[in-house]
Amino acid sequence: MSTILAKMRQLINQLKAHNHAYYVLDNPTISDNEYDQLRQQLINLEQQNPTFIQADSPINQVGDKPLPFFSQVHHQIPMLSLGNIFNLEDLQNFFRRVNERLSEQYKNPDYEVELKLDGLAVSLIYQHGVLTQAVTRGDGQTGEDITQNVKTIRNLPLVLDDTSIERLEIRGEVLMPKAGFAKLNQQAEQNGEKTFANPRNAAAGSLRQLDPNIAKNRPLAFYAYSVVQGLPNEISTQFDALMWLNHLGFTLSDIKLVNTANELQDYYLSVIDKRPNLPFEIDGIVVKVNDLDLQRQLGFLSREPRWATAYKFPAETVMTRLNAIEWQVGRTGQLTPVGKLEPVNVGGVTVSNVTLHNIGEIERLDIRVGDMVSVHRAGDVIPKVTRVWTDERPNKTEPVTLPNNCPVCNSPVILPDGEALARCTGGLYCPAQQQEALIHFVSRKAMDIDGLGERWLIIFHELGLIHNVADIYDLHKQRDELVKIEKLGEKSVENMLTAIENSKQTTLPKFIYALGIRGVGESTALNLAKQFGDLDNLMRANLDELQKTPDVGEITADAIVEFFKAKHNLAVIERLIKAGITWQKLSNETLGNQPLDGQSWVITGTLTSMGRDEAKAKLQALGAKVSGSVSAKTTTLLAGEKAGSKLAKAESLGINIVNEAEFLVMLNG
Ligand code: IVH
Repeated sequence: MSTILAKMRQLINQLKAHNHAYYVLDNPTISDNEYDQLRQQLINLEQQNPTFIQADSPINQVGDKPLPFFSQVHHQIPMLSLGNIFNLEDLQNFFRRVNERLSEQYKNPDYEVELKLDGLAVSLIYQHGVLTQAVTRGDGQTGEDITQNVKTIRNLPLVLDDTSIERLEIRGEVLMPKAGFAKLNQQAEQNGEKTFANPRNAAAGSLRQLDPNIAKNRPLAFYAYSVVQGLPNEISTQFDALMWLNHLGFTLSDIKLVNTANELQDYYLSVIDKRPNLPFEIDGIVVKVNDLDLQRQLGFLSREPRWATAYKFPAETVMTRLNAIEWQVGRTGQLTPVGKLEPVNVGGVTVSNVTLHNIGEIERLDIRVGDMVSVHRAGDVIPKVTRVWTDERPNKTEPVTLPNNCPVCNSPVILPDGEALARCTGGLYCPAQQQEALIHFVSRKAMDIDGLGERWLIIFHELGLIHNVADIYDLHKQRDELVKIEKLGEKSVENMLTAIENSKQTTLPKFIYALGIRGVGESTALNLAKQFGDLDNLMRANLDELQKTPDVGEITADAIVEFFKAKHNLAVIERLIKAGITWQKLSNETLGNQPLDGQSWVITGTLTSMGRDEAKAKLQALGAKVSGSVSAKTTTLLAGEKAGSKLAKAESLGINIVNEAEFLVMLNG
């Protein structure tokens, strides 16, 4: 089989399957726009290769056959479809084509414009003013009799004031307003039932219920858009026909008369703006020649009227090719895969990047570089890949794997067990993470460099004066540069450099915490310091040894090992030590049994001789655990001035209570 023919057969089979899902099962497997794109591919192939056109090509068919269990009704006047246009140029061409077919005196006619409602087309027949039949579009020739269900729609007149017309046939759209749809789905979810993908499916599903009591409880509405039989002779325009229907009691969507393409374009753009606030979903506007005689003159081309067209909104789901995947490193070292797309207009905006979230999502989608993908974007929502067209996958593609090394700093990348996001291990060194690492490093519970706040750190980093935390201790060499910075006088620089100098005398737990290893918070840092006694031991520890430390599980142990494996981190640590950072060796007492081992303390009220953090550190250094709330497990409450509810609770539980003076005696003793 030729490749063109093979491609045609593939498209025909896909379209048939989608038609079946859409028309028969009310459960579309792709969006309308994706469907249109597939259909357009087939149309193009058929136009270029007319001899290959397949007898079963769905191009000249409106839809699939209806389900057998509703009775079938032949439409006296077929229910046709509309052509589509997408931009101002298409619109101007449409106007031109209309003009070409009209004689001089009728050129540049008025157009009536309506919203293109996203529901289901239904034809209603009134005999002498009584609704006798409601029929779905079906395949355009034959539809299903859904009269019982349609009669339950509340905004629809069942009997008209005017009973003189023998047979009136009007057409319009049955839809489910967004609010009713949301409520219906919410209820379905609560009852553990299947939810509907969108309001159109919900409306379709409701109309296809054999039991009209179900439809009755669904929030459906009918909007009229044309009269195909029974219109009084004196009415000569689409606009007046709709106004007449309105007087009979039918609901209309927004309607408007325009005369030029520019005027129409303005309206189109204003509707795009209004779209999110409309009570129902629309997918474009419909442009109709207003004069009914001119409509008749223009007639139809195959199954579409020449006098009307659908001016669709930009597609919200579009197919395009994934050209590459780039891994971006976030401020905390997380690696996020970003799909680089063949640029494409989605929902009116050109999209060339799309987040793929994480390696798990890539595996779930089974996405590969070179694949055709569907990209969805609605309103201001971030675009996302909703589908990968694996059928269309080019030869020789490879599954996507996580990079072994950070694309920014080349440090090893790890994916901790049970976590979705991979991370770069070059915490101290990686340029992508530097600002975050710097801010953490100087913070109070870390190196506590008071005079060097977040604001200046970021400025220094952006000026290139510092890159990583070791550079902080070289800042004194750049005193001349520093004093030149706006709003940073000699005095502040002096204070800053003194604070940096003072920070060199620290404690091992604070230093470990300052390194910013993932999962190593203040108390884990303290436990690690106790467990290993000095930095060298910690740096050499293996996974098993690390996991013997209280608080340290597999993930944290892994992060520690990886951190100290990264050469760049080691270089930074070496510079820090060389710069003179020191701490007192932990005493034997600290390493061995400590006086408060096994005790659980709570601090409350105001202490006068020290801050709470300091008191906490002192208690921890003596082996106590310090927690935030009093419970039966609390052994002692340290109560400062103005202690309140915690004191009362401790008293009621009979817990040992110590005041500040007693605490100081205990520390000194
Ligand atoms: S007029 C011969 N007006 O769009 C043309 N159709 O793509 C008859 N639709 O099957 C259609 N809003 O379900 C018309 N204001 C509107 C419409 C509308 C939605 C739907 C209708 C039709 C489909 C054609």
